[in-house]
Amino acid sequence: MTETKNLWGGRFTESPDQTFAEFNNSFKFDKRLFTADIRASIAHCEGIFQAGILTRPEAERIKNGLWTILKRSDFDKDYFNDSTVEDVHSFIESRLVQLVGDVGKKLHTGRSRNDQVATAFRLWLRDEIVEIQQITRELQKSLVEAANRQKDAVLPGYTHLQRAQPVMWAHWCLAYFEMLARDRERLDEVWRRVNVLPLGSAALAGTSFEIDRETVAREIGFEGVTSNSLDAVSDRDFAIEFVGACALIMVHLSRFAEDLILYASSEFQFIELSDAVSTGSSLMPQKKNPDALELIRGKAGRVFGHQTSLLSMMKGLPLAYNKDMQEDKEAVFDTVDTVKISLKVAAIVLKNLGLREDKTREAATKGYLNATELADYLVQRGVPFRTAHDVVGKTVLYSISVGKELNELALTDFQKFSSEIENDVFEALSLEKTLGSKNQIGGTSPERVFEALEEAQRSLEIEN
Ligand code: ARG
Repeated sequence: MTETKNLWGGRFTESPDQTFAEFNNSFKFDKRLFTADIRASIAHCEGIFQAGILTRPEAERIKNGLWTILKRSDFDKDYFNDSTVEDVHSFIESRLVQLVGDVGKKLHTGRSRNDQVATAFRLWLRDEIVEIQQITRELQKSLVEAANRQKDAVLPGYTHLQRAQPVMWAHWCLAYFEMLARDRERLDEVWRRVNVLPLGSAALAGTSFEIDRETVAREIGFEGVTSNSLDAVSDRDFAIEFVGACALIMVHLSRFAEDLILYASSEFQFIELSDAVSTGSSLMPQKKNPDALELIRGKAGRVFGHQTSLLSMMKGLPLAYNKDMQEDKEAVFDTVDTVKISLKVAAIVLKNLGLREDKTREAATKGYLNATELADYLVQRGVPFRTAHDVVGKTVLYSISVGKELNELALTDFQKFSSEIENDVFEALSLEKTLGSKNQIGGTSPERVFEALEEAQRSLEIEN
């Protein structure tokens, strides 16, 4: 009988159909788990040595073999060119046996690819999460820098994309800073749940060998071990949660992108995007397109899609492991790649971004953004807010009909609508006063915003 190349050939008399073999093959993408799987295998090797399966020399041979394979992959570009192996786990085992001989065949004692893949995936993801958090932090830094560069700049704030009230430019920057801070926190939590060891659960029922799982966990820096073998080999919550956390990052980046795309349009003219992050049109010579931002906005959809695929892939699966779950890798890999590059590009956009302060100031003072201020002024004089709201509404209607801003009206005009209005109304309606009065925690007064900016800076420095 010809010897089968795969890990489970004994029971079979025929080799797999070629098309099916290709369909089944995950090595083309799960080779990304190579280093993680080697690390976990080294820890497992120690575990089965302590369980009395291997002698010390055997364990050392296997470990050295695994290290050699790891190093080889560093300099041999073609090392992974093998279309005959099924997945990264069979690749490593076959290379190990080639290298150290039959003793390599002992490594799989007490484990299954089911707990092996869950372990490698978690180990790999654990480090990626930290990297994504770092890149997110870099973007937070760029937001703080952009705020500091144009500290006194103002921006019209919008609701329903209609001019609403003026805000500080730094306030806008810090709004995104806050979203990203929550994103990093969420990833912290995901990290904690990822950082648990499934190895020792074997195929589904646990292992009969006396492997000290806690020691294996410590060896690879996992904080604990999973408590139920059935759950451990078939749980992909951690992957779904991770993609979910990334989906929210992408929501935030997408809104950031959308704001800036609008601001860069000729209609707004609030910002000029640098050539470094724009492209031209092949037909219209005048065009400068915000492609970097549009791609960020567009790529958000991919990540949401991955979350949906993972949820749908898991929802009907009976316990425990099912091959459907091999589909988890590409969704997570692409999520990682997409989130990282999008965060990086967003930071590049910000670094090159200049706000046209004259334009934003003009926009912040045109369009009755101080109408609420007038209502608040009346409230200060004892007028009930609802009445004040109505008075100001009528005043705005009048101002529109005469083509003036509120602060361009004469005092006598104001007094037609309310006798409470006096000469100090003009100061109350100024941009400085409008901004300055929003002086509670979280408000957009320069005082509060500069405080928040310092706090943001401090929070970034402390973590250094
Ligand atoms: N390549 C598989 C995956 O990614 C590894 C686990 C295979 N387990 C099995 N029983 N066939 O899920």
